[in-house]
Amino acid sequence: MANKIQLSNNYPDITESDKIYERALKVQKPVTQTLAKGPGQFSKGVAPKYLVKGKGSHVWDVDGNEFIDYNSAIGPISLGYAYPAVDDAIREQLNDGITFSLMHPLEVELSELAQQVIPNAEAVKIAKTGADVCSAAIRVARAFTGRDKVFCCGYHGWHDWYIGITSRNAGIPGAIQDLTYTFEYNDIDSIKAALDESVAALILEPFIFEAPKPGFLQELAEACRENGTLLIFDEMWTGFRIALGGAQEYFNVKADLAVFSKACANGMPIALLTGRADVMELFNSEVFSYTTFGGEALSLAACIATINELRDKNVPQYLDQHGALLKDGYNQIAISLGMDQYTRCIGYNCRSMVTFTPEAGNALELKTLMQQEMIKRGILWAGFHNMCFSHTSEDIDYTLLAYRDVLQVVKEAILSGDVKSYLKGEVLEAVFRKVSNYNIKPKTAAL
Ligand SMILES: Cc1ncc(COP(=O)(O)O)c(C=O)c1O
Repeated sequence: MANKIQLSNNYPDITESDKIYERALKVQKPVTQTLAKGPGQFSKGVAPKYLVKGKGSHVWDVDGNEFIDYNSAIGPISLGYAYPAVDDAIREQLNDGITFSLMHPLEVELSELAQQVIPNAEAVKIAKTGADVCSAAIRVARAFTGRDKVFCCGYHGWHDWYIGITSRNAGIPGAIQDLTYTFEYNDIDSIKAALDESVAALILEPFIFEAPKPGFLQELAEACRENGTLLIFDEMWTGFRIALGGAQEYFNVKADLAVFSKACANGMPIALLTGRADVMELFNSEVFSYTTFGGEALSLAACIATINELRDKNVPQYLDQHGALLKDGYNQIAISLGMDQYTRCIGYNCRSMVTFTPEAGNALELKTLMQQEMIKRGILWAGFHNMCFSHTSEDIDYTLLAYRDVLQVVKEAILSGDVKSYLKGEVLEAVFRKVSNYNIKPKTAAL
């Protein structure tokens, strides 16, 4: 019998998931198109591997098990699965066609809407993925400044200029790798010390889980301006979540360029690059950035419907309020169980993350155990609370009940000194993506 969302479940039956996975292993390399959805991030032997349906905040796997989903498709689900206002817009457009031989008026409509809600949107460019717009922003910044070097902080997609600085950099020429440098978030002095006349662009996620120190983003903007470096905000996670206009609106600071995707179309593939008209003007001349599916109309219709809904329903405020219930509720339960020395939920309310302290033990084993026990109780859990408008108060109340149960299991495991013996499946894999421990390269090491 498939699991429902209840505390008394057995571990879910994942027979169909595993059968499909066996087929996948024979034909797909890699089996997943999105690392964070793949089997390395969901404990093999316990977690489902394939989802087939979603409604609101709930999803169903291929074996029929139901879960509350806090992953929100790794960001795109901002309103909810199968959200009527967006799906109706897609259906209406579908009646007329998907992709055309000339431009579509929705491209203009979406750009005008983006201009209304995104603070730096003097001009708008539409693309398909987050990596597309990150790379387009870097290219236009290099063209505008006549410089090559890039400073970055966060994750910016799979393209050469960024992935070259990670541990998954095979296949990327050294000459490309040598042009990108990382910097330490919130460390304005080291950034100022390293910025020089070769730096075209500084790109960062305005925040991930750590809040910016007061004035950090403003000082960064100033330092970039003084150095002739373009500041790029990667707002994949912050855009349309922390505020409609993203971190620029929330912290009252403007970047020269900003990039968005994920939340803006409730699941459809589309991305936006916004920025200064004088910089973006280069896309009309020497900078090339075009793609066949750029004007695909279902995504345009979905994006317009999503942004309107996010604005009309004041969704960022909803995410903040409901996310706070979950984050604060988790931390209170940890305190009441004497677990606060081992675990905390951190981050902004719209997107928080459960963490473990070094005293608790091996973080990956602990995360695997927590995931196993949450999945058993009907919660698809990967350590994050990516809030969406369809997460109800009942979802949150239930999730906190589950946390109270699960944290007791985790406590017992920590005190036993052998967390691994509590695991029914495989330990999760580490991701290459790092959000701290980046080292800024000193000026002398550059180029
Ligand atoms: C902050 C950030 N930038 C860029 C990207 C790349 O976006 P995409 O995977 O759509 O290419 C991601 C994806 O997770 C992201 O989180």
